[in-house]
Amino acid sequence: MTRTQQIEYFTEERSVEAVNSRMDQAADARLRTIMASLVSHLHAFAKDVELTTAEWGAAIDFLTRTGQMCDDKRQEFILLSDTLGFSMLVDAINHRRPSGATENTVLGPFHVEGAPIYPMGTNISLDGKGESCLFMGRVLDLDGKPVQGAKIDVWCDNADGYYDVQQPGIQPQWNNRGIFVTGKDGTYSFRGIRPVSYPIPDDGPVGQMLAALGRHPNRPAHMHFMVSAEGFETVITHTFVNDDEWLASDAVFGVKASLLARMEPGEKHDTKWKSNFDFILNRVG
Ligand code: BEZ
Ligand code: FE
Repeated sequence: MTRTQQIEYFTEERSVEAVNSRMDQAADARLRTIMASLVSHLHAFAKDVELTTAEWGAAIDFLTRTGQMCDDKRQEFILLSDTLGFSMLVDAINHRRPSGATENTVLGPFHVEGAPIYPMGTNISLDGKGESCLFMGRVLDLDGKPVQGAKIDVWCDNADGYYDVQQPGIQPQWNNRGIFVTGKDGTYSFRGIRPVSYPIPDDGPVGQMLAALGRHPNRPAHMHFMVSAEGFETVITHTFVNDDEWLASDAVFGVKASLLARMEPGEKHDTKWKSNFDFILNRVG
């Protein structure tokens, strides 16, 4: 730089350009694209709301407390992403499927690898609480043909609204969890309980944010499913009890119309309820 050249310092007007012009040396082009867009939107946001120093300080404090709340059992940042609809947006962008294929929804923090593999029909409710329910249906491809060997990993909360991992020593391990593998006809069935609605963990900064925004922390009653089969895209989803009071205001925006499942009276001498839902898988490649 010669002495006569004008240095372009940071100003409010050219704030985005000032920051993004320093990324030319970044080796990773994708990182450059992401960071440049992030800076551009972040600066636009601050300008849009005329962010005060006190407000930015409060935001830093909030993010600090969010980080401090995280450990190997609690992930407050994912909860923040979930409650801002960001998890569902990223999921939607990454799981665009042909019409008719079962839609994805959030994984949530309560999935545990390695659940027991059971024969079809097994009761996964181990604590004896709740209203019994038979879950059944088929795993099909988009042509309506049964998918053999599909692994159906299921999990849900107990009748008190807690997952087993939230209550170690209170609930039996693997309560309301199990894996089922389809045979030739693609059908599945297992017994459990009619899911109940529950609040997401709201004793941290995310709970405080929801309260400040006049939002409740509740999720409508649902059963989680992860359905995988060789040659098909894995579906991570839930079925939602179709008359739940929180369907329209799920704290994490996970509900989709195609995932509502009717609760019908069960067969006499078996379960109180039954819920029938078919999973339609999309082939990969
Ligand atoms: C769940 O359904 O298990 C869940 C999803 C997102 C945040 C909290 C819980
Ligand atoms: Fe859940």
